[in-house]
Amino acid sequence: MCGIVGYIGSRDASTVLIKGLKRLEYRGYDSAGIALINGELELDYRKGKGKVSNLERALRKDSLIGTLGIGHTRWATHGEPNDINSHPHLSESGNIAVVHNGIIENYNTLKKKLIERGRVFQSQTDTEVIGHLIEEIYLASPDITFEHAIRLALKQIVGTYGLAIINKEFPDTIFIARKGSPLLLGIGEEEMFIASDASPVVEYTNKVVYLDDGEIAIVNRNSYKVKTIDDVPLTKEVHELAISLDAIEKAGYPHFMLKEIFEQPRSIADCMRGRINPENGTVLLGGIEDVMDELVNARRITIAACGTSWHSALVGEYLFEQLAKTPVEVEYASEFRYRDPLIGKGDVLLVISQSGETADTLAAMREARKRGALVLGICNVVGSTIARETDAGVFTHAGPEIGVASTKAFTAQVVVLIMMALELGQRKGILNRKKMKEYIRELSKIPSKVEYILEHNDQEIRKMASLFTYAPNFLYLGRSYNFPVALEGALKLKEISYIHAEGYPAAEMKHGPIALIDEMMPVVVIAATDHTNDKMISNIEEVKARKGRIISIMNDDNPEVKKLSEFCISIPSTSDCFSPVLTVIPLQLLSYYIAVNRGCNVDQPRNLAKSVTVE
Ligand code: AGP
Ligand code: GLU
Repeated sequence: MCGIVGYIGSRDASTVLIKGLKRLEYRGYDSAGIALINGELELDYRKGKGKVSNLERALRKDSLIGTLGIGHTRWATHGEPNDINSHPHLSESGNIAVVHNGIIENYNTLKKKLIERGRVFQSQTDTEVIGHLIEEIYLASPDITFEHAIRLALKQIVGTYGLAIINKEFPDTIFIARKGSPLLLGIGEEEMFIASDASPVVEYTNKVVYLDDGEIAIVNRNSYKVKTIDDVPLTKEVHELAISLDAIEKAGYPHFMLKEIFEQPRSIADCMRGRINPENGTVLLGGIEDVMDELVNARRITIAACGTSWHSALVGEYLFEQLAKTPVEVEYASEFRYRDPLIGKGDVLLVISQSGETADTLAAMREARKRGALVLGICNVVGSTIARETDAGVFTHAGPEIGVASTKAFTAQVVVLIMMALELGQRKGILNRKKMKEYIRELSKIPSKVEYILEHNDQEIRKMASLFTYAPNFLYLGRSYNFPVALEGALKLKEISYIHAEGYPAAEMKHGPIALIDEMMPVVVIAATDHTNDKMISNIEEVKARKGRIISIMNDDNPEVKKLSEFCISIPSTSDCFSPVLTVIPLQLLSYYIAVNRGCNVDQPRNLAKSVTVE
């Protein structure tokens, strides 16, 4: 999820690696480290929690001299950010160093087996299994080459990785591999650069080779070989880099927010990775396994959060009540903390936060804990205060979110809530095996449906945005699962375009907001929840009768909705309870394009901060 650099040539590797890691800082990270093979052909490393500049300072005092090395900025997924969990991770003998981006899904199984066979682990990371496993395979047979050992180890690994590996026995080689996490090779004059994106490489060379999934490369100073994990040699195209640093950081997108919107097929898949099994219809959420009994017996669940996370909490209310028949109260964290909340022993408070540092949410969590409740968290940042202080929880694994307006964190939070509600429903005997299978099969299709929406609707939404750029107000209407999405759509628009917008449950409109509707008012109607379709049509009629300008989000082709709407965005259908993950996507894009048209600072909107650490 974060950054990898590597260097082999005649320059001082540590300088190149530190510079490269600084170029990758924009991605957000929690720790940094490098490993080098020095002049005495020893492998040495420095690593630690915190900024690359700390690492740089440490190296000034205690330098690493060599011309080959690898480096990493970590964004923790397994094990809190601390010195030991930072990369590189070494093998048992200390001869092999590994840096890794991504998630090893089966690390627990592999780790258990390696421990049984006598390996000693230092960290809590999933990454550490890689070095141990490669070394074990390599040492098991005198005939096996190191590269072959890597390929065999990778075959046992389930999950995603960008990997750079060095072994002090091979002081002229860096081994790299990719599956689901980007990696490229920069080709210089008698030197090679490795990086997870082109930003650390551009200042040295414009010739790059992009590794594809399932490929490994053996990189020397003057040459490189790329092959598949099955040992089939490949001839790779050498690309010419012609983009600016700024464009590289945003992966070619003009803003982080757009990049993050388009990352959602991947971030949602990462969130479900290793946790759902469509074949058997099971969910496994390791982080809350130990408290499942308490959840099953809970009289109710209270969810506290702020902003976008509060909207996902509202989706959670519908989910837990429908799928697990557990009553839910959703609270603004800021209100909850200052009331005299009726919560105590036997109750469960679930806090939801992207950053894990929101002051109001922290305070709500501490209040509930003081009163004896079980406190659970859904959080994106491993090692954050909420992640540390909750009794148990589930990480969203959406990767670092840099745009201030939350997008991929929201969809990942909803997906975690879906998985939790399904698991709870199954344990409470409300969802049988057949139903679970149906739900989980459908859930596994969500990433490709999100991809479809992004591919097929982007242009249309862009056009629509240009027509509504100067609207002074917007109304968003939704029912049931899509009422919280209406709130989220309105919040996104407010935050980044500064247009006044409100979200309402569609039927509530007639109790007041209907007075606002005239031919100037754009009304975004989320008409993609099947069981309320007829009611929604009536609500659209009510808007139409007052000449409101109707933009509808509908499932597939809905002729009735189409007839009544000025614009229609058609998205693939899914179970009603998964619908928010799809319906929110066009709304994110709509607010993004409107804000861009208005010349707003999309990634850093005025008056807002990514994490609100004040009351
Ligand atoms: C989202 O777009 C906002 N920037 C904001 O509402 C945010 O969701 C809220 O401050 C909560 O943040 P958290 O999820 O990090 O706790
Ligand atoms: N899963 C690994 C860890 O938690 C790698 C994280 C990353 O991609 O930075 O250490």
